[in-house]
Amino acid sequence: MSDDKIKIAVFVSGGGTNLQALIDKQKSGVITSGEISLVISNNPEAYALERAKKAGIKYAVVPRKECGTQKEFEDKLNDLIAENDIDLIVLAGFMCILSESFTAKYLKRIINIHPSLIPSFCGKGYYGLNVHKAALEYGVKITGATVHFVNEIPDGGEIIMQKAVAVEEGDTPEVLQKRVMVNAEWIILPQAVEKVSREIKELKK
Ligand code: GAR
Repeated sequence: MSDDKIKIAVFVSGGGTNLQALIDKQKSGVITSGEISLVISNNPEAYALERAKKAGIKYAVVPRKECGTQKEFEDKLNDLIAENDIDLIVLAGFMCILSESFTAKYLKRIINIHPSLIPSFCGKGYYGLNVHKAALEYGVKITGATVHFVNEIPDGGEIIMQKAVAVEEGDTPEVLQKRVMVNAEWIILPQAVEKVSREIKELKK
């Protein structure tokens, strides 16, 4: 690992297609200022772990269910972050809520991808397919994805990038989810990771 790149940890919970986009865009040279040096999953069954394994990236599992308290869970995350000298945390389909003390510790050092145009369809209860169900129920004609900094308010931190995607006649939540991933998430997440990594790298000089 080259010394001038900042170190990135990607937090995942499920399929890990956003993690895959980051791995691919690191290979293709979209992400050059940072390097994914750790993947952490709260879910031992997450397919994202297979993706990390295949890419030769170090990974760890911190099962939320086995941690009695939120503090115990976050202490383990903190230890891994410190041990691996992580500069930037990317939440890529990470389905656990992080406490205010955790987010405050890494101010402007945690970013998240959310599958809607914030401030629509975001906050508590809006995750994964639920977001697209809500967008279709409301009847919006435009949705999209947002990358934002993470603070104590769920999906409430400063917006870094957004990309709009059209809702089409007859869309199901699954079809819409896939279109938002392909046309927005997998594009703006790697771009935002590079942007923030470059900024952190500059600050470290
Ligand atoms: C993605 O659509 C991501 O935006 C969303 O979960 C999916 C994870 O897919 N995240 C949230 O809803 C967070 N609030 P992936 O595991 O294939 O990247």
